[in-house]
Amino acid sequence: TKQVDDKIFFSPEDLLSSLPRQDGIFQPYSYQYQGFWFDPSGLQEIMGCQKHFQARENDIFLVTAPKSGTTWLKAVLYALINREACHPQDPHHPLLKQTPHQLVPFLESLMPSEYDSVSNSSDNSCTRIFGSHIPISSLPKSIMEEGKIVYLCRDIKDTFVSLFHFANKANFRPSPISLDNAFDLFCKGSSHAGPIWDQILGYWKESLERPHKVLFMRYEDMTDAPHTQLRRLAHFLGKPVSKEEENAGLPDRIIKLCSFGSMSNLEVNKTGNFVATIKNDSYFRSGVVGDWKKYLTAEMGSKLDQLTKEKFGGSGLSI
Ligand code: A3P
Repeated sequence: TKQVDDKIFFSPEDLLSSLPRQDGIFQPYSYQYQGFWFDPSGLQEIMGCQKHFQARENDIFLVTAPKSGTTWLKAVLYALINREACHPQDPHHPLLKQTPHQLVPFLESLMPSEYDSVSNSSDNSCTRIFGSHIPISSLPKSIMEEGKIVYLCRDIKDTFVSLFHFANKANFRPSPISLDNAFDLFCKGSSHAGPIWDQILGYWKESLERPHKVLFMRYEDMTDAPHTQLRRLAHFLGKPVSKEEENAGLPDRIIKLCSFGSMSNLEVNKTGNFVATIKNDSYFRSGVVGDWKKYLTAEMGSKLDQLTKEKFGGSGLSI
């Protein structure tokens, strides 16, 4: 049985049927839970980890809205944290043989028995690196007390276009969704862990209040100034890039190893399925800033910009 607020439910179906529902983009329906919309499979996973996950002091959580560049930053985090034991130029680097999602799992996709076996850092600190899409208000409580959070967001229009393509590749729908339908649903907040604006704002506010706890990053900054962002990230995680490392070109090596060109050309990322029906290559489409212009009309672009302006008004945030 599961308990939500004061009610006790006896099966996942029973629980879902008690929640508000609307059409979904990635799966046919999405369900509203604690103020956000989720794909049904993802929602059950979140409830599981809310109940069972216990964060630790050295944990690192990379949180994103789907299609904001999670795969990229998972790779960067992994390469950065493990740089001493495994140089980014090492021909046996794990990122050359495993997908970033294998090396840095999504917290909510793990069974409770797997939490302790996550060991994706080579140092003695027992650092665990997890990905997640959970909104800040729904994170397992212990994450607010222990560990550090890196939040990555991306231009909303590019995120939507990326999501639209991904939804039709992932085969979780009985039939493809049209761009117009997906767009309307996205504006209504019906993307996993949406409304996307609310998810971003939650982490933005926390990053202002607790800058040692939450680092707020943008995909476009990573594209424009990867060195600056890498240094920022390393500093935030308490593993600053040293002068010697700078002089030896380590940041360049990490950036190159994790670049779209390198990653998308690796055999492991071109073939196979790591997650259910999702092919590994679905995580690498074009990686281009402003790609939305190829798919959205000017009106659609303005509508998303307008919504972003309204939602972020007064927060000091613009993306
Ligand atoms: P596009 O669909 O716009 O190309 P996520 O990892 O959160 O699922 O996001 C996927 C998006 O990040 C896709 O965007 C994908 O192409 C892009 N991406 C994946 N790896 C990348 C990398 N190494 N550098 C830049 N962008 C990358």
